Amino acid sequence: MPVNVLFSARPALWPVYEPLLTRYLAETGVEARLGTEFDPDQVDYVVYAPNGGLLDFSPFTRLKAVLSLWAGVEKIADNDTLTVPLARMVDHGLTQGMTEWVVGHVLRYHLGMDRHITIQDGVWAPDAPPLAQERKVCILGLGALGEAAARALASLNFTVTGWSRTAKDIPGVNCLHGPDGLRDALSQAEILVLLLPDTAATENALNAETLALLPKGARIINPGRGPLIDDDALLDALNAGQVGHATLDVFRVEPLPPDHPYWAHPNVTVTPHIASETRPATAAQVICENIRRGEAGEPFVHLVDRALGY
Ligand SMILES: NC(=O)c1ccc[n+]([C@@H]2O[C@H](COP(=O)([O-])OP(=O)(O)OC[C@H]3O[C@@H](n4cnc5c(N)ncnc54)[C@H](OP(=O)(O)O)[C@@H]3O)[C@@H](O)[C@H]2O)c1
Repeated sequence: MPVNVLFSARPALWPVYEPLLTRYLAETGVEARLGTEFDPDQVDYVVYAPNGGLLDFSPFTRLKAVLSLWAGVEKIADNDTLTVPLARMVDHGLTQGMTEWVVGHVLRYHLGMDRHITIQDGVWAPDAPPLAQERKVCILGLGALGEAAARALASLNFTVTGWSRTAKDIPGVNCLHGPDGLRDALSQAEILVLLLPDTAATENALNAETLALLPKGARIINPGRGPLIDDDALLDALNAGQVGHATLDVFRVEPLPPDHPYWAHPNVTVTPHIASETRPATAAQVICENIRRGEAGEPFVHLVDRALGY
């Protein structure tokens, strides 16, 4: 009997994903019916994004797994109606995009690019930047995205420190963990990148106390999630010069309201949640591999720990 796969995401994505999922499911040998509408009690797998609007999984009585198109699962991880495995998205294309975005913004700060891009005032003021090995970059979060960004920065010779919940060993990266590790990591972060998930334990990871641990004038790049930062504390730190500049891609409220102080702040760059996105061509393969695993009785990959929230 074919398995039924419900696609519950932004409707505009269906024509993009349908041919890809059809093709890769055929390659896995799983006989499947794909669609955007099924009786809930007939659905085996849900391909899920929050903007598909699905909130109540209780009528999905034969569901085997929910397969998220998003890496961040904070909008579904605590959904009590979901009682089957939840897999998040780990997609080569998404990871590569994030690495490129992070490296680009780190280089902007490292090289002091704004000075010459935004000010052409006739003043000849040579100010060559240091080499990457003299620049300390710190990444909070060493998961699929943080580790890839850390490796890329290390390959450019930056002095890279990373911080995670559990201990890691990544070549070329000074890996720290735990509360003491966070203090060490922040104290040497000339450029700080946030790639933590949004969970109860990471909310306000950057607050008045932790911001004060940074070297004066530190730069912050946040492509993680808005709630990682206490916004009032960051604005205070920016106004006091404790933080020199921040590039923020994600916010507690998105779209960021037009009257939010970040938009007008001279030392903040706002980008509209574009650091990276799931790439259908590669993500569809990840989804189909998990369906194949489910049907073969093999463990799913990229499972979310619902208790930890990521
Ligand atoms: N802006 C964008 O366009 C965009 C795109 C995609 C994703 N994102 C965001 O990026 C986030 C990270 O994605 P990912 O795929 O790299 O996630 P991931 O693989 O789950 O990695 C999360 C990392 O954070 C660490 N972590 C979690 N809780 C922690 C805590 N309490 N203390 C210290 N470290 C903690 C984890 O530590 P362990 O390794 O020890 O578990 C892991 O290293 C997503 O959750 C999403 O919010 C943003």
